[in-house]
Amino acid sequence: LTVRASSYADELAKTAKTVASPGRGILAMDESNATCGKRLASIGLENTEANRQAYRTLLVSAPDLGKYISGAILFEETLYQSTTEGEKIVDILTKQNIVPGIKVDKGLVPLAGSNDESWCQGLDGLASRSAAYYQQGARFAKWRTVVSIPNGPSALAVKEAAWGLARYAAISQDNGLVPIVEPEILLDGDHGIERTFEVAQKVWAEVFFYLAENNVFFEGILLKPSMVTPGAECKDRATPQQVADYTLKLLRRRIPPAVPGIMFLSGGQSEVEATLNLNAMNQAPNPWHVSFSYARALQNTCLKTWGGLPENVKAAQDALLLRAKANSLAQLGKYTG
Ligand code: 13P
Repeated sequence: LTVRASSYADELAKTAKTVASPGRGILAMDESNATCGKRLASIGLENTEANRQAYRTLLVSAPDLGKYISGAILFEETLYQSTTEGEKIVDILTKQNIVPGIKVDKGLVPLAGSNDESWCQGLDGLASRSAAYYQQGARFAKWRTVVSIPNGPSALAVKEAAWGLARYAAISQDNGLVPIVEPEILLDGDHGIERTFEVAQKVWAEVFFYLAENNVFFEGILLKPSMVTPGAECKDRATPQQVADYTLKLLRRRIPPAVPGIMFLSGGQSEVEATLNLNAMNQAPNPWHVSFSYARALQNTCLKTWGGLPENVKAAQDALLLRAKANSLAQLGKYTG
């Protein structure tokens, strides 16, 4: 195998390093319009473009957000959106020293021939969309596929997830975007932590096999794994120390040190749980930057505090900054509660 010399190699490595900088992580704010609608409904708001714009403006303009946040993942609508005052969201991020990123997958659909599992669409036209996103200011991309433990996972679903991620990663790099590789292992199920560990080992082995086969440049990618935890309905809960031990064992067995950053998703963990687990993983030096790329675990309290009211914007931004700072400390292994 020869490693493809992407004309963007230096820039990709630099972007990945910037996103993986000490004490910072990613704000995932790339909910699709359908998912954003669910979040807005939870505070009694209609899913209109204006409401999505108001909420996302609140997030990106939180004062000094860039102290804790190195990258923000946007949905396509937001990448091309301006605030009500007419400033481009991408420009606000750049001023905050936050790298703009873009969700490029087209979502999950049933995987024919599987045990009611899913696959992730979006490879058709991806090269031209990626080039346009780069022009618009995006420097990294995200593709989220999922693996379900209660439904298998079948060998077919794991192979499809890994292959899709690898094709996406190669196409992103050819167009100057650092790919975030995200095979989310869903929390649903009553399985124990050992079972999650076993499935995660299988998934990451295949992901790296196909990344290598597609000549992906490892210094220019970021990973977005799930932490290794028991299933959401499992009666035996795990301490942050246990989650950290299993998750780091997985990373050491499967992830080469050439990969600059490992940015965990929160996957339905509570805000505090997600911070404590990240902090536990950073108690000793790691070969990679181990950080966060949270959506719900950064936004839940912020969204509730806002409630759609202009007079609550400042309090909502404070709530976001509180979580961002806590996770920044956790990235450094210095969170004390
Ligand atoms: P959560 O942190 O809410 O799991 O979302 C992260 C994300 O972007 C999932 O793709």
